[in-house]
Amino acid sequence: MCGIAGYIGKKQAAPIILDGLSRLEYRGYDSAGIAVFDGEKIRMQKATGRLRILEEMTQHGATLPGVAGIGHTRWATHGSPSDVNAHPHMNEENSIAVVHNGIIENYAQLKQKLQQKGYKFASETDTEVLVHMLTEYYHGDPLEAIEKVMHRVEGSYALGILFLDHPHHIYAARKDSPLIIGESGEGRFIASDVPAILQYTRSVYYMENEEIACLSHAHTRFFNVDGEAIQKDPVTIDWDIHAAEKGGFEYFMLKEIYEQPRAIRDTISPRIKNGAIDLSEIQISDDEWKAFRKITIVACGSAYHSGVTGRYVLEDLARIPTEVDLASEYRYRNPIYDPDTLVIIVSQSGETADSLAALRDARSHGCKVLAIVNVVGSSIAREADAVFYTWAGPEIAVATTKAYSCQIAAFYLLALKLASLRAAITPERFRTLLDALVCLPGQIEGLLSQKEKIQFFANHYLATEHIFFIGRGIDYALCLEASLKLKEISYIHSEAYAAGELKHGTISLMENGTLVIAVATQDSLYPKTVSNIVEVKSRGAFVMALTTLQHQEMEKCADYVLYIPETEAPFMGSLAIIPLQLFAYYVSLGRGLDVDKPRNLAKSVTVE
Ligand code: G6P
Repeated sequence: MCGIAGYIGKKQAAPIILDGLSRLEYRGYDSAGIAVFDGEKIRMQKATGRLRILEEMTQHGATLPGVAGIGHTRWATHGSPSDVNAHPHMNEENSIAVVHNGIIENYAQLKQKLQQKGYKFASETDTEVLVHMLTEYYHGDPLEAIEKVMHRVEGSYALGILFLDHPHHIYAARKDSPLIIGESGEGRFIASDVPAILQYTRSVYYMENEEIACLSHAHTRFFNVDGEAIQKDPVTIDWDIHAAEKGGFEYFMLKEIYEQPRAIRDTISPRIKNGAIDLSEIQISDDEWKAFRKITIVACGSAYHSGVTGRYVLEDLARIPTEVDLASEYRYRNPIYDPDTLVIIVSQSGETADSLAALRDARSHGCKVLAIVNVVGSSIAREADAVFYTWAGPEIAVATTKAYSCQIAAFYLLALKLASLRAAITPERFRTLLDALVCLPGQIEGLLSQKEKIQFFANHYLATEHIFFIGRGIDYALCLEASLKLKEISYIHSEAYAAGELKHGTISLMENGTLVIAVATQDSLYPKTVSNIVEVKSRGAFVMALTTLQHQEMEKCADYVLYIPETEAPFMGSLAIIPLQLFAYYVSLGRGLDVDKPRNLAKSVTVE
């Protein structure tokens, strides 16, 4: 959600900034802009719509010469997507330019004060107050002006700032919105995320809250909000650069679907040692694990759906009471905190604003917080008491696939660990489950090789207006995710229903030809789900069923059947999600949509 890229160094800045922004496109945006020092003045160019429009306008940066600049992709919050609302924002004198990611919560009061002082606002954005405040407080020392602004604004921000008087520096500041600084022999970089600068450097500083950075072509200096110099150490990013490239696939989403066997293997293998679950890397001792009386899982979007699966698996295997909540609800519902509860925050990006707020709230009430996170060094990872990293690697497509799959694999490991510590399952059952767990990546590989069958089915449903997903238990959890995946990228209305709930309302929507995707992977619930299939079919629905190979009799009641191989019941979701991810992908592709960058959505939702 909004992307920042900036550069100062020996090379032309604009092409590097545009390239950086293109690698942040996955975050979601609706307009883009860039500002570069040309030796005399700050020149700026902005464009609504895709980044390629800005690239064409600037001839890939050639019309904006200069070795220092900042750029931005904007995801509209305050003010519609338009050229004037796009960043950077400049003051009337064109002497200060700002790009901003986040939300200035007290902008209305600040704007009123600034207007009373005579400042004229060109845009509808909250960001513009920052430009005028910097103008107000700037008397020759950029650092002093930035500090004063930081003391007065409330909300979240990652900032890149140019001062015309200081053409050999760019400035950056951060609070509650991610920002990194990169350094190489060729210059210094600012960026919202690692992929923006990975091809130039692997040496990165993570900015912490209320820190300021001053970058020149050869140095970076860091300060706290009171202007005191601080010492920071760079970290080396060990990502494989190809992980952030499409590698021959048409879309990142398909590439990431195909990476799932590897990602799940990387997530589970290092944590299985000598026939046991080894979570020693997580700072929770066995005694602490045993002492938890309850688990509360909090997350947003697909991460929340992984938590719904997590609840079924934890309760089933470890027999520990588990609840799951949406972070945006949890943080405001005045939950009852109990120090014996382990709070698990799940997040791919580690930056989701509501999840981060929930984490802080839980910690401030004395709960231990474990984060299941994919992005190393992200805010949620840094602020949690303990971290369980999913090793999915960089995920670029907005619609998550491999990170979700790794999250549910993380829950399997936690459930098995707790199940054995609490003696909730027999050693034999534990071994059976462990054997099944390590087979999952290979089984997923097998499923991926049958993608044509799903593509064939998807191509028949490109014009459908409504799709319903039904299932029970873990199958219902899976339906939530499958339905979200479909609507995110195909723009087809879809709903997930607990199959047993259909007759309490939704069945009235069934008519001739309504597409229902029924998931029936749980043997114990199979006859119940079949009854629900019969119910919707008798109202005219066309049913595509997803079940295991042993249930071939499903062909008698469903119109079309997809099979997945057998695994232990708690792990079925890992296999069943694969055809449904592919279904969403092929429907989106067939409808000619931008699979990786669906409209209105952002990969990393850093505002409330
Ligand atoms: C956005 C993304 C979803 C993601 C959700 C939570 O809405 O588009 O794919 O599931 O945020 O993100 P997180 O990074 O916390 O998992």
